[in-house]
Parts: sequence; C-alpha cells; structure tokens
Amino acid sequence: MPEFSRPTILMCPPDHYGIEYEINPWMDKSKGSDRALAHAQWQALHDILVSLGVDVRLMSAVKGLPDLVFTANAGLIWRSTAFVATFRHSARQGETPIDEAWFRGCGFRTVMPPETMDLEGAGDALFCGDTLFGGYLIRSDARALQWVGARIGCRVIPLQLVNDHFYHLDTCFCPLSPREALYYPGAFDRYGLQALEDAVPELIPVEEGEADRFACNAVVVGKDVVLNSGCPQLEATLRSRGYTPHPTDLSEYLKSGGSAKCLTLRLDGENAALWP
Ligand code: ARG
Repeated sequence: MPEFSRPTILMCPPDHYGIEYEINPWMDKSKGSDRALAHAQWQALHDILVSLGVDVRLMSAVKGLPDLVFTANAGLIWRSTAFVATFRHSARQGETPIDEAWFRGCGFRTVMPPETMDLEGAGDALFCGDTLFGGYLIRSDARALQWVGARIGCRVIPLQLVNDHFYHLDTCFCPLSPREALYYPGAFDRYGLQALEDAVPELIPVEEGEADRFACNAVVVGKDVVLNSGCPQLEATLRSRGYTPHPTDLSEYLKSGGSAKCLTLRLDGENAALWP
C-alpha cells in the first residue's frame, strides 16, 4: 500500500513528447512542438509544484509514446487502488502496460476496466466532494464510469462532452474544493449543466477565451492553483476566493490539447475529494 506524507504528484518528463498523430482538434502534425521549449515549460511546472511542497514522482518516458507525458490519463486513483487507463485511440493504447507497471511498482493495487470499456483515467473522472464526475462519449465510456462507481461505492454523475475541443473532462471542469469547481459551460449540454448546478454548491464559470487557453486544466494543491498563463480573469476570480494562482506558460502542450492538469496525476487524493 503506498504511503504519502504530503501532496504527491506523478509526472513524466517530455523526453519523447511530440505531435506525432492527431486525435483531438488541437493537434496538427504540421505544427510540431519545440523540443527545448517543451522541456523548459515542463521543468518550470515541475519546479513550481516542488516549491509548493509537492512530492513529485517520475515515470520514465518511452520512445514512440509521445502522450505518456500526460500522466492525468494514466489512471484513476482511489485510496490504494489505481484503475488503470484503457485508451480510445490505438496511438495511446501502448501506454496502458507502462502505467500499470508503474502503479504496481509504487504499491497500488491495480485494476483494469473490462476490455470493452474505455476509461482515460483522471482526464475523464474527477472527484468533487462525495461524487465522481465523469466525462464521456469522446474518450471514455459512460458505463466504464458507472463500473468504477459500483466498485468504490460512490455516486457517479456522467457528463456528456459535446464540444470536440473539450474532449476530456479535465479540460472543462476543475474541482477546487469539496464544494467549489471551475467549469466551462460551452463544453456541456443542458442536462450536464443542470446536473453540475444541482451537485456542486459553488460553480464558477470560465469564459470562452480563457477556456480555450485551458484555464480549467489547473492543478490544485490546497489553496494554490497552477495553470497556463494568459488567463487573467480566472486568476482574479481565484484570488477573490482566497486562492493563489501560479501561471506558467505551457504553450507547447496546448499544441497537443493538454496543459497543467494533464501533465500531472495526484496520487494521494485530490484536495476536492472527500475520501483521502
Ligand atoms: N494529446 C493527448 C490526447 O489527445 C492529450 C491528452 C491530454 N490529457 C488530458 N488529461 N486532458 O490524448
């Protein structure tokens, strides 16, 4: 069983990161990422997290798996269990055995979703309070989210993702605490918006321009929030609610449809989850 004495986050260095295929509307092979800049941006994010007292654990990069850097997709963590991710697109399916071995080596009990279900880890499954919010359709299956909920005895609220640019739930929804969450309304249908309003006491909208800069894809560590730079409105909102924003430029990862949160996986339980 893994033991954590402080906030602990898994990252994977971008040694083999690149735009090698196109599986979401942000990716364009003709607009590749700058290797040195991608490294510098990843390192800056890493160093901010370390300065906030986070224990950052590293998974080794693997050639041919450019998206392994997005550790949010490695699995869904619940106590000492890691529900290992199974990916929609064949380009990412090679990540699953690497993720499974890493979690096992760290002391987690690893559980694989049934073969017929896709579940892209914490990218599509986020706890807020006593509820697991799940994004489905584009990458993960609604029944995979229900399957997890049944195993951990947790209420699941499935949210259909209706906007291809916000293809993972963590691109448009970010729990800050058990009762507060950021969200981008344009990523959900009417039912999803109503479900969010009913379930989250304080729902904080992010405007379109900043949502497009992945404002919702933020890493929350207590009262500190690390996010892509260029989201001044959200930064002001966070400050007014007692949070300290830490903007950092992640432009090379936006080219792949990812940002701060995607590059991290909280191993000891998110601050917004009531179970840790
Ligand atoms: N290029 C990756 C993909 O399309 C980006 C993953 C971003 N991860 C996330 N948790 N949103 O799968």
